[in-house]
Amino acid sequence: MSQTFFITTAIDYTNGAPHIGHAYEKVLADAIARHKRLHGSNVFFLTGVDQHGQKVQQSAQKLGVEPSRFVEDITSRFLSLWEKLDISYDAWAATTEDIHKRCVQGILQRLWDEGKIYKAVQSGHYSVRQEQFLTEKERGPDGNFGEEWGEVVEIQEENYFFKLAEHRDWLLALIDKRSQSGNSMVLPEFRTAELRNAVERISGDLCISRPKSRLTWGIELPFDTEFVTYVWFDALSNYVSFAGYDATPGADLSTFKSRWPALHVIGKDILAPPHGIYWTIMLHALGFADEDIPSFLVHGWWNIAGAKMSKSLGNSVDPSALADHYGSAALRYYLLTDINTGRDADFSTDRLEQRYNAELANSLGNLLNRSLSMAKRYRESRLRRMDSPLAAVAAEKIAAYDSAMASYQVQAAVEHVMEFVTRCNAYVEETAPWKLAKDPTQADKLDEVLYTLAESLRIISILMSPILAKESQAIRAQLQWNGDATLDNTIWGLLPDGHELGCPVPLFPRIESPAT
Ligand code: MSP
Repeated sequence: MSQTFFITTAIDYTNGAPHIGHAYEKVLADAIARHKRLHGSNVFFLTGVDQHGQKVQQSAQKLGVEPSRFVEDITSRFLSLWEKLDISYDAWAATTEDIHKRCVQGILQRLWDEGKIYKAVQSGHYSVRQEQFLTEKERGPDGNFGEEWGEVVEIQEENYFFKLAEHRDWLLALIDKRSQSGNSMVLPEFRTAELRNAVERISGDLCISRPKSRLTWGIELPFDTEFVTYVWFDALSNYVSFAGYDATPGADLSTFKSRWPALHVIGKDILAPPHGIYWTIMLHALGFADEDIPSFLVHGWWNIAGAKMSKSLGNSVDPSALADHYGSAALRYYLLTDINTGRDADFSTDRLEQRYNAELANSLGNLLNRSLSMAKRYRESRLRRMDSPLAAVAAEKIAAYDSAMASYQVQAAVEHVMEFVTRCNAYVEETAPWKLAKDPTQADKLDEVLYTLAESLRIISILMSPILAKESQAIRAQLQWNGDATLDNTIWGLLPDGHELGCPVPLFPRIESPAT
């Protein structure tokens, strides 16, 4: 079986509506997945929703509905958003599904049977909001637990613990080994130090259960039905449960192995400890080899005017409303180009409008429109296949684009494409086809210009397809070129001699802001 590129995003909490951070992560992973498909790779793109946990149980209780009903409503909002934003996922991970429950219970049972989980008494301060016990480190300078922890209560209870701490040195060594071999576990590389520091601070084991007296909305421990598993153990396992994994010794893992290991696309807040520590150690404890420990592409956060988006500040941005207002292309383009992967950025609808108008409406949209209009006017839309001075420029931009995409620098990749678009527009000004058309001795030059523009647009449409799949397809439809959008097809000169172009149809209408 051929190897698949396996990409996941974090599964989103169903305790509230989707916001712009969720949309960004999905669009980023989608662009990466589509770029791999351009190369002809098999892709398995998994995303979904994180439906269990105390917060969900509490929110449902407040509304007087069953948790299952509560998460169903929010899940449907995520699903319709992903459809609106054209997210090309291959599998959907909803943690209330049976296939997931069975897999999580299999994992727990195996770790229990192998003595990697034990029962002990835990006592101390517990944050209801964060669903975790607090240590002295979490106290502020005034000796109190800060507001971020919400209500803090003192409790004592029996729980189950996963042996985490004994793997600390293994994990440190693996992080270093991977960095030194150029196959860093964490991308961008600068976030590795953050994970490494957190691993060095591991001091104890991980509590993985909650008694049913406190939490019923979760997956039952297979070896003690008085408990459900703690939310991270449940959530993280989605990456394998929906990919064909089965922890039962002797199970057939051939499908799973053809996919694994994954690239996990996650936000910076859930690298350490959840993914970089809990998940890697869970996999190690389950017997995954070092080369099967996944990689993490860690993106930054979208802020609002420099501040964190939050429900309590009431400043979170609804991506669904934005997509309705500006169109999904404008939103995708903005989210992929106004942030440098790994860094934070400020969300602004002014910037969204400016970039869309300057880059898609004026630059690319105008190039398409003027090229097809001139071909129609001067040559009844028929091309002669000609050599072009821009063929070498195209080759250089394709290579730069491809290497930026391969290292997940989507912003830089699109910049290379837009530089090529700018070059094409400058070429129109330099060659002035409207003058060439008036001079019969310049007929060959005019044919060269028209062929160059059509061929460039064909290539640009392929390069832009991971970013704007539908609009790229619409460009190829206007060019009347039916070839596949693959990287191999970005080679210069595939429009044949005598090819007939279609009529221009405006593709990126300008966004007109209401006058202020
Ligand atoms: N359910 C967990 C993840 C479980 S993964 C096994 C979770 N959910 S979340 O809904 O809170 O966040 C989902 C993703 O969105 C995370 O990767 C998080 O980093 C990302 N973002 C949340 N707010 C964000 C921004 N403001 N900006 C960019 N991404 C952010 O964590």
